[in-house]
Amino acid sequence: MKALITGISGRVGANLARQMKGRGYDIRGLVMPDDPQAGKAARLGVELIEADIADADAARAAAAGVDVIVHQGAQIPQGTDPAERMLDVNTRATMSLLEGALASGAPLKRFVLASTYQTYNPFVTSPVSFEEASPQKPIDIYALTKLLSEEICLCYMREYGLPVTILRYSSIKAVNEVLGMLHPAWLNYFIEMTLSRNRIPWFGAEHVEETKAIMSELLATPDAVCAVSDADGRPWELVVTDVRDVVDGTILALESERAIGEAFNMTGPPPVTYARAARLLADATGRPYREVSMPFWRGAKATTDKARATLGYDPQYSFDKMVQTALAYQRGEPIDQIPN
Ligand SMILES: NC(=O)c1ccc[n+]([C@@H]2O[C@H](COP(=O)([O-])OP(=O)(O)OC[C@H]3O[C@@H](n4cnc5c(N)ncnc54)[C@H](O)[C@@H]3O)[C@@H](O)[C@H]2O)c1
Repeated sequence: MKALITGISGRVGANLARQMKGRGYDIRGLVMPDDPQAGKAARLGVELIEADIADADAARAAAAGVDVIVHQGAQIPQGTDPAERMLDVNTRATMSLLEGALASGAPLKRFVLASTYQTYNPFVTSPVSFEEASPQKPIDIYALTKLLSEEICLCYMREYGLPVTILRYSSIKAVNEVLGMLHPAWLNYFIEMTLSRNRIPWFGAEHVEETKAIMSELLATPDAVCAVSDADGRPWELVVTDVRDVVDGTILALESERAIGEAFNMTGPPPVTYARAARLLADATGRPYREVSMPFWRGAKATTDKARATLGYDPQYSFDKMVQTALAYQRGEPIDQIPN
């Protein structure tokens, strides 16, 4: 079975390629020109095509003659790029890949799109648990480009009968990204980002000044691990997914006939509280543990009930297990994933 994986040098793409190769897939990977992670892709020992996925001809050509496409390539932070570039990379490229598959004449057996639970707008202060049928209301360009890609996939299924599957991931971490989590600069980035370009702050405009004051005090201890709760003492909840669960779930969806035409939330085991996660990280690393009271709550999640019932998806990696693997990696022990 010939498979195209876009974004093959990425957090998910590299691990997915390795697993799929082990299952007998003949992998073709798309790598961005001047990709700083190109070495990671090269070490996979698969066919590689170098192209900017926003180049329509190159994306079409990459999609020709494969049996399945797992479309992981995307630009996640917008950075200073214009919104139109995000649209080209994250949305228009999806259409080019589908067009390439159609034009090649070889019947495509599956197109799997990596989307995000950000399409629901999880940046709310209420304890929502999103289902696949929940309204999708993106509040940033990235999530918008992903929702548009979802619609493109579904339209190509209606118009041409292409068998598509949509996976909505959330906050994926690889082994080398775990022990540094929950530091003040990360929290601050998050707040700053919402305030840049006169965006409407994600968690409610009324808390901006208070939040900035808390952050400036917190940043004095840059290596702190932050156990965040709201003003009523309700701990924030950490929605995080181990890359190994994402890979396992993606392969289940790719190989299940029941996944055709469906969207699935694909997140980790139930979230832990920031308090518990921070304690684990502080104990594992010796970083100072700081209790932080924020004027709002965070922790909206997505239920995986549909993926569990339909695909047998069973995410294994609790935050405790993620920390254990990260410590093993730090000790130089062999681990079962490719670091990011
Ligand atoms: N990481 C997360 O927390 C998360 C959460 C929800 C959804 N997703 C989605 O899952 C997918 C995989 O995520 P990831 O964490 O592996 O991302 P990543 O950033 O590690 O990998 C993205 C890949 O896309 C490639 N890419 C970016 N721009 C490109 C371009 N113009 N042309 C060709 N290739 C390009 C990068 O080189 C990289 O290989 C993405 O589509 C992402 O939007 C990720």
